[in-house]
Amino acid sequence: MSKKVNIAIFASGSGTNAQAILEYFQKIDWVDIKCIYSNNCEAYVLKRAQNFGKETLTFSREEYYKSDKVIKHLQENEIDLIILAGFMWLVPHKMVERFTIVNIHPALLPSYGGKGMYGHHVHEAVLENKEKQSGITIHMVNNEYDKGKIILQQSCPVLPNDTPDSLADRIHKLEHAHYPPTIEKIAQKLHSKIA
Ligand code: GAR
Repeated sequence: MSKKVNIAIFASGSGTNAQAILEYFQKIDWVDIKCIYSNNCEAYVLKRAQNFGKETLTFSREEYYKSDKVIKHLQENEIDLIILAGFMWLVPHKMVERFTIVNIHPALLPSYGGKGMYGHHVHEAVLENKEKQSGITIHMVNNEYDKGKIILQQSCPVLPNDTPDSLADRIHKLEHAHYPPTIEKIAQKLHSKIA
């Protein structure tokens, strides 16, 4: 039997994207979502992970940046691909150089990216600037926030009476539709190398 592509998901909050990914890959037998990692031990994503019978690992800022706890765990799990799904901390250099890492951002980068631009802050800024459209960006992760190579962008309208919540709902729908199949395409390339 050929080797599976082992995926790690990193998430800090509710984890609707993690849920969409977990559901999508249930039917794909050459991919194994090994573990859900979070910096927030209260995050609802941990509950979602448990509902799928997945292992979870939480860590503090100190452990993330100043120890090898997370990297060691990723290596022990033989992780091939790291997926950031609403993960809010900058990825340390030592992880960027060892792993293929992909992120989803809730706007059309390079606009509305960078430090502090996450979740609702993004949607508030988009509405403040009276943008006519927003969207999602799936991109590779490098050493800077939201600066890695863009893999896919999809746009959606910003409506005159939108609130941050209504815009976030529209963006989440786009994310859930496009993130899992884009991850599958990236995983396919890795699979052809390792299998
Ligand atoms: C998603 O919209 C994701 O794009 C965003 O956080 C949300 C997490 O939602 N990520 C960022 O802002 C990263 N800069 P979820 O927990 O329901 O998946």
